[in-house]
Amino acid sequence: MPSKKLINKLNEQIKHEFFSAHYYLAMAAFCTEKSLDGFANFFIAQAEEERFHAMKFFDFLTEIGETPVITGFDDPKRDFSSLEEVFQLSLEHEKLVTSLINDILEIAQEEKHHPTVSFLQWFVDEQVEEEDTMSQILDKIKMVGENSPGTLFLDGELGKRKFSAE
Ligand code: FEO
Repeated sequence: MPSKKLINKLNEQIKHEFFSAHYYLAMAAFCTEKSLDGFANFFIAQAEEERFHAMKFFDFLTEIGETPVITGFDDPKRDFSSLEEVFQLSLEHEKLVTSLINDILEIAQEEKHHPTVSFLQWFVDEQVEEEDTMSQILDKIKMVGENSPGTLFLDGELGKRKFSAE
């Protein structure tokens, strides 16, 4: 039987994942303002992925006999100054999410709640991928420099991203 503490953490993660979706949508809006539709597409797909993550927590809670608790959150940051800042913040945000997942995992391990430990393994792997993606794009932006032909090339590449639930 999971503790109230563990259930609260799982519920809070629904909020964090939906917040992530809003945060990335705010970044997408910044990119559309700059006419960087490929970068915008990347963040819109990322927002869809975050909503998918939120629903995984929602579904898991119902599967273990709990009622998900839906709460609100503050407005995400909207005033960005550059693509580099946007990806720096994305990377920092993914590192924060990784630490939140790790916290829940440690509680589940202490309680020996094996279903939660098993469920979170997917997120542990996912976070490695998410941090790596943000880090790689950040490196490339630094490499080509903002407002360069390289930025337009990256825009074309990121415009190909499509979200698929896996
Ligand atoms: Fe749901 Fe980007 O972590």
